[in-house]
Amino acid sequence: TKPLRLGIAGLGTVGIGTVKIIQRHAQMLARRAGREIRISAISARNRKRDRGVDLSAYAWEDDPVALARRDDVDVYVELMGGENGPAKASIEAAIAAGKDVVTANKALLAIHGHNLALAAEAAGRVIRFEAAVAGGIPVVKALSEGLAGNEIRRVMGVMNGTCNYILTRMEESGLTYDAVFEEARQLGYLEADPNLDVGGIDAGHKLSLLAAIAFGTRVCFDAVQIEGIGRISIDDIRRARDMGYRIKLLGVAQMTGRGLEQRMTPCLVPADSPLGQLQGGTNMVVIEGDSVGQIVLRGAGAGEGPTASAVLADIMEIARGCRVSTFGQPAASLSEAVPAATSAP
Ligand code: HSE
Repeated sequence: TKPLRLGIAGLGTVGIGTVKIIQRHAQMLARRAGREIRISAISARNRKRDRGVDLSAYAWEDDPVALARRDDVDVYVELMGGENGPAKASIEAAIAAGKDVVTANKALLAIHGHNLALAAEAAGRVIRFEAAVAGGIPVVKALSEGLAGNEIRRVMGVMNGTCNYILTRMEESGLTYDAVFEEARQLGYLEADPNLDVGGIDAGHKLSLLAAIAFGTRVCFDAVQIEGIGRISIDDIRRARDMGYRIKLLGVAQMTGRGLEQRMTPCLVPADSPLGQLQGGTNMVVIEGDSVGQIVLRGAGAGEGPTASAVLADIMEIARGCRVSTFGQPAASLSEAVPAATSAP
């Protein structure tokens, strides 16, 4: 069998994590996939930076679009991030050039996911995005494969580790939101635009992707009702604690009589529940299916190893020959997600 040849764009935390796994576990991956997983070429903004990994065996491209089009690339792995710009242009170029795509880019998919899925389908290619949602937790595959026999009743979860860190740290330390926000910034937890985290947008992107898979609709980020954690005071947290609750930035997606409801808002959860017990920068996703009942998935939602683990899950799935859309049906036939809040009763 021929090797599966990768072009990896973006050599930050996730990109380097992905290269490391492929280098460290080459034989194991080949055995599991039934073929070699080979990196052909790479691309990043800064060629010279020492990333602590030997990259000398891979061809270098300055332009991710050129990388995406290379003849020696079967799968274009986009790990640059950003909802427009080179990430979008290079994924489009990859699809047009007949490559499959693996990406961790939740912002891009939440906004352009439907059109990219249409383009991929028309070209007979697949787009995989396990790493875009809840880092190392294989929740995309849990929904689309592991729970494929279930009608999904509800998907809930804490999908932004930074917000969960801030909220749990406020409770344990008694420090104000501003003080803990500053701590999180110094620890390097916050996105370049911190409002993506604390404004609930990053978590909203993730929820919109899970909702589309769970309920067979188009990805519809605009319909997610979002409220961030910026207005949570230490008094709110104390009052919640005195009543036996904790405040979490909680996402909920469920089909109601009025359409698909998607919200990502601060919620009170019982302190002794799995969601209430979730500490620090961790993520948790709770899925309710009609046959399976409730499933709770917990793990690291960010970081080099966990996110790269999810990227490898997608690479391996493609290597094994799975060609079914993650959404389960052609993107063209997915229904519009009617926002529950605005549709007729
Ligand atoms: N900023 C995100 C988080 C990381 O804190 O969960 C990955 O989206």
